Amino acid sequence: MSDFVVEVSNVSKSFPLEAGFFAGGNRRVYAVNDVSFGIRRGSTYGIVGESGCGKTTTARMIVGLHRPDAGTISYKPDSSSDGVDVSSLGRRKLRLFREKVKYIFQDPAHSLNPRLSVGDIITDSYRYSSVYPGRRAAGDEARDVLSEVGLSPEDADRHPSEFSGGQRQRISIARGLIMKPDVLVCDEIVSALDVSVQGQILNLLQDIKESRGLSLLFIAHDLRVSCYFCDTIGVMYCGFLVEEAPAADLYRTALHPYSRMLFGGAGNSFGAKAGEARSITGVVSGCPFAHRCPHSSSVCLSELPPWKYDGNHKVRCHLL
Ligand SMILES: Nc1ncnc2c1ncn2[C@@H]1O[C@H](COP(=O)(O)OP(=O)(O)OP(=O)(O)O)[C@@H](O)[C@H]1O
Ligand code: SF4
Ligand SMILES: [Mg+2]
Repeated sequence: MSDFVVEVSNVSKSFPLEAGFFAGGNRRVYAVNDVSFGIRRGSTYGIVGESGCGKTTTARMIVGLHRPDAGTISYKPDSSSDGVDVSSLGRRKLRLFREKVKYIFQDPAHSLNPRLSVGDIITDSYRYSSVYPGRRAAGDEARDVLSEVGLSPEDADRHPSEFSGGQRQRISIARGLIMKPDVLVCDEIVSALDVSVQGQILNLLQDIKESRGLSLLFIAHDLRVSCYFCDTIGVMYCGFLVEEAPAADLYRTALHPYSRMLFGGAGNSFGAKAGEARSITGVVSGCPFAHRCPHSSSVCLSELPPWKYDGNHKVRCHLL
């Protein structure tokens, strides 16, 4: 039986369409549609896809910041315990759960309070947690965790504006680690960084994951970076998971036309049409990628492709 620390089953989430030209009536954005996957204990699951495909919405449902419209998210703290349904947790249990499954924000420039010292930033929410050890011990732990992320203990007395983008991301990671979590949900934490700094942060995350025995959800739009870093990858398009495979397998043989387009970059040789992923604002009857796919046929416009499996590589495309 699979040992998933987090298991997402048939989860969907929609939002009322924000004000604007297309808003009005009861129109909604279908941000996540019937998505299922699991984060194996001690491993890294990557979610990859273009802007607006539903990555952050999925992450926010996992940490209990959004409640799914349908489906369940279950968290199993250890292999022998039963999973708990995250949506069913009351306020107190949800707080305890969020200590164990930590969300690391996409944008540290906005999520680190510029008026606080780094030490205070790291211990700010720790103070209200069930594992807070008191002011002095928390200060010592903040300095230890700064060393663990490759900064200096003295950095606790400085302010976020004194640090580079990569260093700020290290502070964000330190703030998550001080709670001693089981799972880190890393939402585009390297996307805004230079390639060499990205590599340093990924190496750091890998070391921390191994030394602390963490499981990771790694969200990114870069499929190559994700294949390098993750164990398993799910490719999302317009709120749908369209392909899932072990990272090495996906890198060798991506099967879905959209995954192949992501590997091809802007000038992809596969022929997918340039453009942006649109948001889904109505019921989808066909393949969500049909409007960009060079292989689209009439069945693609009328029927949502079912999953097809080859071992643990699965893909949703009529072509295959
Ligand atoms: N709170 C909200 N209210 C209304 N619409 C929302 C809300 N959150 C997300 N959406 C919409 O849901 C869709 C998915 O958004 P989401 O932020 O999950 O995408 P993403 O894959 O994380 O994108 P990015 O790569 O830009 O971060 C988008 O169309 C977005 O506009
Ligand atoms: S189902 Fe059809 S439109 Fe969708 S990816 Fe496959 S071939 Fe393209
Ligand atoms: Mg996002």
